[in-house]
Amino acid sequence: MTTLINKKVVDALNAQVVEEFTAQNQYIAIALYFDAETLPELSNFFHLQAQEEHQHGMKLLQYITDAGGHPIVPATNEVKNHFESVEEAVELALNQELKVTDQINTLVALAEAEKDYLTRQTLQWFVTEQLEEVSSMSDLLNVVKRAGDNLFLVEEFLRSNPHEAEAEAEA
Ligand SMILES: [Fe+2]
Ligand SMILES: [Fe+2]
Repeated sequence: MTTLINKKVVDALNAQVVEEFTAQNQYIAIALYFDAETLPELSNFFHLQAQEEHQHGMKLLQYITDAGGHPIVPATNEVKNHFESVEEAVELALNQELKVTDQINTLVALAEAEKDYLTRQTLQWFVTEQLEEVSSMSDLLNVVKRAGDNLFLVEEFLRSNPHEAEAEAEA
């Protein structure tokens, strides 16, 4: 099969798949923690985030395949399964999104350095997606901090502001 992307780019994209699937598992762990704490809206929010991360990983694997590279379905990295507080879990999620944003930007820089404009173009979707991801997680952390011990307020916030993920999942 004709290959449109070089090995360096394929390796970097496959490495990003590890990050996306790890993010999926981390969000499942966070969702289950909220489930155990009887915070159903928070749990639902993070289950939806997990589904989005799954889609991100699949999108990369599909692109690698379509472009003639060899996709690697990876083992994922360890995730955190014990949390002391809601704030700790949401802060971890925000930091994860900031890290992924850096990783996507590094991928864009690589694609440009390799004059791989097809990959560059494909990555633009991820660049825009990270704005949404960081912005919604940052909003959630603000609300959690403001709510303090009254986590009912966080549940109310999520109930009255259904996440875009639901609309995306339906699209
Ligand atoms: Fe992602
Ligand atoms: Fe994300």
